[in-house]
Amino acid sequence: MLCAAAAERNKEPISSVLRDCIEPSRPLKALEISSGSGQHIVHFAQAFKNVTWQPSDVDVQSISSIQAYRNHLKLDNVKSAIHLDASQSWENWSGFEPDSLDIVINLNMIHISPIACTKGLFKGAGVILKPQGLLLTYGPYSVNGVITPQSNVDFDYSLRQRNPEWGLRDVSFLNSLAEENGLFLQKMVDMPANNKCLLFRKESQV
Ligand SMILES: C[S@@+](CC[C@H](N)C(=O)[O-])C[C@H]1O[C@@H](n2cnc3c(N)ncnc32)[C@H](O)[C@@H]1O
Repeated sequence: MLCAAAAERNKEPISSVLRDCIEPSRPLKALEISSGSGQHIVHFAQAFKNVTWQPSDVDVQSISSIQAYRNHLKLDNVKSAIHLDASQSWENWSGFEPDSLDIVINLNMIHISPIACTKGLFKGAGVILKPQGLLLTYGPYSVNGVITPQSNVDFDYSLRQRNPEWGLRDVSFLNSLAEENGLFLQKMVDMPANNKCLLFRKESQV
């Protein structure tokens, strides 16, 4: 069971954002893309029992960690973790049907992966979400080309030094990707530690 200190700190603030947009009674289906350690999804599964959560990651060690959390907590609303590469077309994402999911969540992947992953995420979410379904992304972003505060500017620089294909993405760029894929930015929520939650909704008619 991997344990990221940041995930421990931000899991409840992200839950609070979800609480405002997840219906508490209706059965819902959610996919998390890039679940990492699994700390978030087991927290959300305990907070939102009416949701069936599907964890996923591209990384084998992460998949093992998610499974370890799942087995330890014996949560019957968390499915077995699957291998999912966001840079691949949604048709290769373990057989999800179009218009089949209520929620897609993606935390802290967009800035630390090549742009093909972000494009794949929005394209896939645009297809597999039901009309009015929710795509929630979380992480640090630039807004209108400006990164604030200085710690995020430094973080962006360090990411690009590690891999020139990584780095903070601009909210307006993500919004244009969303619109290309039948989604729209409904809300941007400031979060602790200079992060944001972006809430995108799938249009009723694509
Ligand atoms: C910084 S970690 C964030 C993990 C977790 N979501 C969190 O917030 O603690 C980035 C995650 O993105 C995943 N990732 C990187 N490239 C990916 C890809 N092509 N498809 C899916 N996940 C990917 C990594 O394996 C890793 O788990």
